[in-house]
Amino acid sequence: MKNFELLVRSVGGHSLAFLYFDLKGEKVNKFNREVIAEFESLIPELKRRAGEIEALILFSKKPGNFIAGADITLFQAARTAEEAQALSEAGQNLLNEWEDLPFPRVVAINGACLGGGCELSLASSAILMSNDSGARIGLPETLLGVIPGMGGCVRMPWKVGIAQALDLILSGKTLTGEKAYKAGLADGLLQKENFETSSIEWVCKNLERLKRGERIGKPPKLGGMGGVTGSLLENNPLGRSVVFKKARSGVLSKTKGQYPAPIEAIDVISETGTGYQKNFRGVDRARAMKREAEGFGKMAATDVSKNCIRLFFLTEAIKKANGLPEGVEAPTKKIQSAAVLGAGVMGGGIAHLLADKGISVRMKDVGIPGLELGIQSALTLFNKSLKRRSITERQFQQKLAKISPTTSYDGFLGAEVVVEAIVEKMEVKQSVLKELEDFVSKDAVIATNTSSLSVSRMQSVMRHPERFCGMHFFNPVHKMPLVEVIRGEKSSDQSVSQIFQFSKQIGKTPIVVRDAPGFLVNRLLMPYLTEAAIMVSEGVRIEELDPALLEFGMPMGPIELIDEIGLDVAEKVGHILHDGFGERMSPPGTFEKLLEKKRLGKKSGSGFYIYSGPEKKEKRLDSGIYDLLGIRPLTGKITKQEMVDRCVFGMINEAARCLQEKIVAAPEDVDLGMIMGTGFPPFRGGLLRYADSVGLEKIVNVLQELKGKYGMRFAPSDALLAFAKNGKFYP
Ligand code: COA
Repeated sequence: MKNFELLVRSVGGHSLAFLYFDLKGEKVNKFNREVIAEFESLIPELKRRAGEIEALILFSKKPGNFIAGADITLFQAARTAEEAQALSEAGQNLLNEWEDLPFPRVVAINGACLGGGCELSLASSAILMSNDSGARIGLPETLLGVIPGMGGCVRMPWKVGIAQALDLILSGKTLTGEKAYKAGLADGLLQKENFETSSIEWVCKNLERLKRGERIGKPPKLGGMGGVTGSLLENNPLGRSVVFKKARSGVLSKTKGQYPAPIEAIDVISETGTGYQKNFRGVDRARAMKREAEGFGKMAATDVSKNCIRLFFLTEAIKKANGLPEGVEAPTKKIQSAAVLGAGVMGGGIAHLLADKGISVRMKDVGIPGLELGIQSALTLFNKSLKRRSITERQFQQKLAKISPTTSYDGFLGAEVVVEAIVEKMEVKQSVLKELEDFVSKDAVIATNTSSLSVSRMQSVMRHPERFCGMHFFNPVHKMPLVEVIRGEKSSDQSVSQIFQFSKQIGKTPIVVRDAPGFLVNRLLMPYLTEAAIMVSEGVRIEELDPALLEFGMPMGPIELIDEIGLDVAEKVGHILHDGFGERMSPPGTFEKLLEKKRLGKKSGSGFYIYSGPEKKEKRLDSGIYDLLGIRPLTGKITKQEMVDRCVFGMINEAARCLQEKIVAAPEDVDLGMIMGTGFPPFRGGLLRYADSVGLEKIVNVLQELKGKYGMRFAPSDALLAFAKNGKFYP
């Protein structure tokens, strides 16, 4: 056997089998065809030796990984629902055979145990987990646009109750050993030190109970809360229908019906999972599994799933990238100490993020009041984590203590990276950067968080411009996953690569962007927002426009997004892009009246919408907005499709130019940037995958029509025409 090693030996008077899994040549264990075949061939041997084996323990030999699930490329390659269903059935059959072995099987998990790994665990007699923070168990399939297809939908409800199973499967979240033990998913929680030895001891201690098929872990917390109410909910059909109804409406309100997998999972669980119990075998199990496999096949064949999987592999590729062209390497290091210049919204947000990731941060501002604001914003965020219990009181104190405020450059000499986040004025930034160079070590990399100014111009005044590049975070820093790493004319490979790796170190997804007005994301977003504002000034109702783009899948409508960004900021960026690109980026003029009235958007309490309540979370459209703008709105002025096309095709047109100008290296960067930076719907695969799915020829034709109706800004770019000639953005 290549990937599995089976040993049977006597321990403490018991004859135990030890099965070690170590997929050769791979970083993680997964179920690919070879593994499935090998595992299958093990079953007859295990059956043959049943008389000799009292119990079996499965360990992984991979540090930090138990089993990462089914090989995603297997079902990604499936061309039809039937093909994917057959894959699911093969996996189910294998796990059924595992479940039917005549001796107890215990999995001992000391690393990631996801998808098929978790499903194998569910088909085992008991699950042991270590208390290592890397030991995690879960069913992330719905995040990939599919449903658990190796018995997970069928077995999980029995193990943890329907409500908890729905929560795990619909969110795709993973649980640590401690949480899994509390949920009743893990039967034993063991110290990470000497995990293997204590797993063996645990099995010996519980051997008789295991042989009798007893449940050793906590009972499932029915209804999610346990107790009498929980039992009442889950133990009768009416209560169960309440649980499913609630799950369905929760999913629909979150996904607006755009993601079919969670709904399919609810259907499968309601039709199969509630019947599962110990000794659920034969035709009943076969029927339940068949339903699950059908659901899996159906989901695996959807474009949504293909797009979610592409996104998974795009983010995997970033893990390995260094921010430089292929074959180019530059030394980088893990950052332990940093400094932030400016304690405003962005500076404070960046300092919070760095401290949260364990990096010591010096935060400098010109005066104490500014620093207080920065500290306050970090404090608010840490407080939220404390309330949510994602950090302990001790961690709260430790993290907060990582930020040390200052009004001087004291302590900057120790900073390995300095992030500048002061006012967006070129002259001010240039003079501060010149000054800063005297106070940092010669190896320090300096990055600017500018969202709109030229990195090359900024570095032109520096004595060591090569150590400088852009590190453009998006607001709010702790939530938005993207960082644009901006390569200025004189930025060195080393500084670009260091900031790229540093971004990953703090949990962000970086893309490298060439220095040009608006970089990538703002340059694409601005035509989108501008077009929405133009439509409003033409009399398109905001009550129709925002929902149309929400329905398309954007996380919020464009007018609400303008409010969120701030009308002043949007106007400023708009002017920079207009200066950079001329006529086609003309600002809409819709904002002027609102700006005159200091209605800057959410931050000032009103923009197009009016905001109220705690953290201004409640919003309503201002009934007087059209009068204020001097507009007569018309219901149904244009179709929803036209609203979407005007907003989205403009972005596609501009993205083609960005690719031709090598603002980013590849279509993947555009898609990752738009998904991570603007929330462009992941199920559409990103802006350019969406364009390819619509067809470039069709987009060119629609743009021509729009040009006829609304003007030259819609003229298809030469770049788009060139891509259309080849058919697609993606090869
Ligand atoms: N199928 C196929 N490939 C997988 C995989 C899977 N289920 N899980 C991991 N891999 C691959 C990665 O793509 C990567 O390949 P590469 O080196 O060619 O780029 C390699 O295994 C190592 O994974 P990586 O993510 O770099 O390791 P990690 O230690 O950072 O993370 C996991 C490990 C398991 C947490 C992470 O890979 C993961 O979340 N995998 C997906 C799990 C999943 O969704 N399973 C359900 C499948 S239905």
